[in-house]
Amino acid sequence: MPLSPSSPAAHDTIIVLDYGGQYAHLIANRLRRLRVFSEILPPDAPLREMTNLKGVILSGGPNSVYDPASPALNPDLLESGLPVLGLCYGHQLLAQALQGRVTPGTTREYGSARLKILRHEGVFKGLADTEEVWMSHGDTVSELPRGFTVLGATDDCPIAAMGHSGRRIYGFQFHPEVTHTEHGLDMLDNFIDLCDCRRDWTMENFVGEAIREIQNRVRDRNVFFFVSGGVDSTVAFALCNRALGEERVTGLYVNNGFMRKDETPFVQAALHAAGFHNLRVVDASDRFLAAVAGVTDPQEKRRIIGGAFIEVRDTALGDLDLDPEHWMLGQGTLYPDIIESGGAQHAAVIKTHHNRVDIIHELLARGLVLEPLAQLYKDEVRQVGRELGLPEALVERHPFPGPGLSVRCLCSNGEADPAPDSALRRVEDLAEAFGLRGTALPVRSVGVQGDFRTYAHPAVLSGEANWRVLESASTALTNAIPEVNRVTFLLRPAALPPLRPKAATLTRDRLDRLRDADDVVMQALEEFGLMDDIFQMPTVLIPLTSDGEDEIVVLRPLSSRDVMTARFAEIPLEIAQEIADRIMALGGVAAVLYDVTHKPPATMEWE
Ligand code: XMP
Repeated sequence: MPLSPSSPAAHDTIIVLDYGGQYAHLIANRLRRLRVFSEILPPDAPLREMTNLKGVILSGGPNSVYDPASPALNPDLLESGLPVLGLCYGHQLLAQALQGRVTPGTTREYGSARLKILRHEGVFKGLADTEEVWMSHGDTVSELPRGFTVLGATDDCPIAAMGHSGRRIYGFQFHPEVTHTEHGLDMLDNFIDLCDCRRDWTMENFVGEAIREIQNRVRDRNVFFFVSGGVDSTVAFALCNRALGEERVTGLYVNNGFMRKDETPFVQAALHAAGFHNLRVVDASDRFLAAVAGVTDPQEKRRIIGGAFIEVRDTALGDLDLDPEHWMLGQGTLYPDIIESGGAQHAAVIKTHHNRVDIIHELLARGLVLEPLAQLYKDEVRQVGRELGLPEALVERHPFPGPGLSVRCLCSNGEADPAPDSALRRVEDLAEAFGLRGTALPVRSVGVQGDFRTYAHPAVLSGEANWRVLESASTALTNAIPEVNRVTFLLRPAALPPLRPKAATLTRDRLDRLRDADDVVMQALEEFGLMDDIFQMPTVLIPLTSDGEDEIVVLRPLSSRDVMTARFAEIPLEIAQEIADRIMALGGVAAVLYDVTHKPPATMEWE
C-alpha cells in the first residue's frame, strides 16, 4: 500500500494504524469530520518517514495480545514522542509494550457501560462525571504501565481508560468512534487538541487543492469518464469539469436498460444545474435485454450483464478513438475502495470485475487513470458535490448496484418451488406464537450465514403487528427453520391472495413495472423526509401471481454502514402502508410485502 495514495497539500495528519475490522475507517472518518486529515496505514508503517504527522491512533481489532501471530506495536511509535491513543486492542498493546499487564478474558464483553471519569482533563476535558460508552473486548488491562494513571473505570473494567499526560499516551478499552459512545466525538476532539493539530481538512479546501492537482496531473491532455449516475462518478466528473473546463472532459452514460425511471434526464438535469453540459448518452438497452432474453438464473444474469457492459465500454472507447497520449480515463474510486481491509474487499471484487477490460488495464499500468476522489469517504464526496453546486437530490442518492434493477427483478421458469410441508407447518406455528398468520413463498432468495450463502424460502407474516414483534418473529423463524432465510410482512392487501409462480424473465414490460414501483418508493422517501435515514431501499418484483398477470412487490428498506451487515429499516407503518397503497394503485400488483430481515441471515438484495 502506498504511504499516502495521493497526498494532498501539507495537511497536519493523524494516522490510524489498522489492527483489523471496520474500526479504522470509522476512526479516520470521525477525525476528518473534526476537520483533521487522517489516513489508515498498516500496523508496521514506517512512521518516521512521514511528514506532517501529529498523532497516532491505534485501532481496535479481533486479536488478543497473547496470540503470537497478533500484530505487534509499531517500533517507531514510542520513540516518536507523538501523542498516541490506543483503542481496545490498541489500549492493550500499549499496556503490554510499556510493562503493564493484560489479563486474558474467557468471554467477550459487548455493549453499553457507564464510564466513571476520574480526571476531567486532557482527553476527558469537559465531559460529565459518568459517560455512556460502548465496550467490546475479551482481554482487559489489569495493571497500569509505570507512570500511567487511571482516567476512567466501569463496574466491570477498573482500567477502562489510562493515560500518561507527560508523554501524551492514552488508552481506552471502549470505542469512542462508535455512535453508541455518546460523547466519543468530544473525546477524539480533545485528543486532536493534545496533538496540536491544524484543523484545515474541509471540503471547500479540498476542492481547491483537487482542482490544482487534477490540472498538474492531466497537463494538456483530456479526460474521459463513464458516468453511471451514482454519486461517486458524477461528482468526480463534475470536479474534473470544474478543473479543466467542459471542452476537455467527456462523460459517457450507458443506459443498460436496468436503470431507474427517468434516470437519464435526471442525471443530465443534475449536471446542467451545476453548469455542465458535456454528458453523452448511449442507449444500449436493446443489446442488454437481448443478451439476457430467456435467462432465469441469477448468477447467469449477472455474468451476462457484466460481460455486455465490458463489450459496450470497449466499443465506446474504440469508437471514440481516444489516443492515450492525449486522454486519461477518470474514475470515481473512493478511499475505502483502495484500502485493503474488511468491507473494502467486497467493493474491490466488484470493481475488479468491471475493470477487467484490457484497455483499462493498459491505461492503469501507464498511469493514465485519474481518480480525484481516491482520498475521500462517501460523506465527504457528498459534501464536494454540494460545493460544486450539484443538487441535493443527486448528492443524497442511495448506492445503486452496477447490474441495476436486473438483480431486483426476479425471474422464474414458472415451476413451483414450494417449501416442504414440515417447514410450512413450522412457519404457521411460530407465526401463531407471535399472534400472526404465516406462510412461506414458493420461490427462493439469497441469504448469508457465517461464510455461507443460502438459497431458501421467504416467509410472509400477516396480521396486526409492530416492528418489535416483527423483528422478534423474523429472528425466531430464520433461527428455527433452515428452509427459511428471509421474513416479510404483508402490507397490502389485508390477506395474502392465493399465489402461483409464473414464467418470467427480464423483459421491458416487467422492468417498467418495477421502475414504476421503485419510483413511487423513491418519491415517497423524499416526500416523507426519509431519504437520509435509509442507507438503501431496493424494491423487488417477484414472479408470483394471483391472476396470471399481476406479480408481487417487496420493499426492502435498510440501515447499514458498511454493507457487510445491515438491519431492516423501520419506516413508520402508516407511511409504509401509504407507499403500498400507491404501488397497488399502479395496477398489476397482487400484494406488497415489507422485508423485515437483518443481514445476516438475509442479504440486502434478494438475489
Ligand atoms: P448484498 O445483497 O450482497 O449487497 O447484501 C451488499 C451491497 O452490494 C450491492 N450489490 C451489488 N453492487 N454489483 C454491484 O455493483 C452487484 O452485482 C451487486 N450485488 C449487490 C447491494 O446493492 C448492496 O449495497
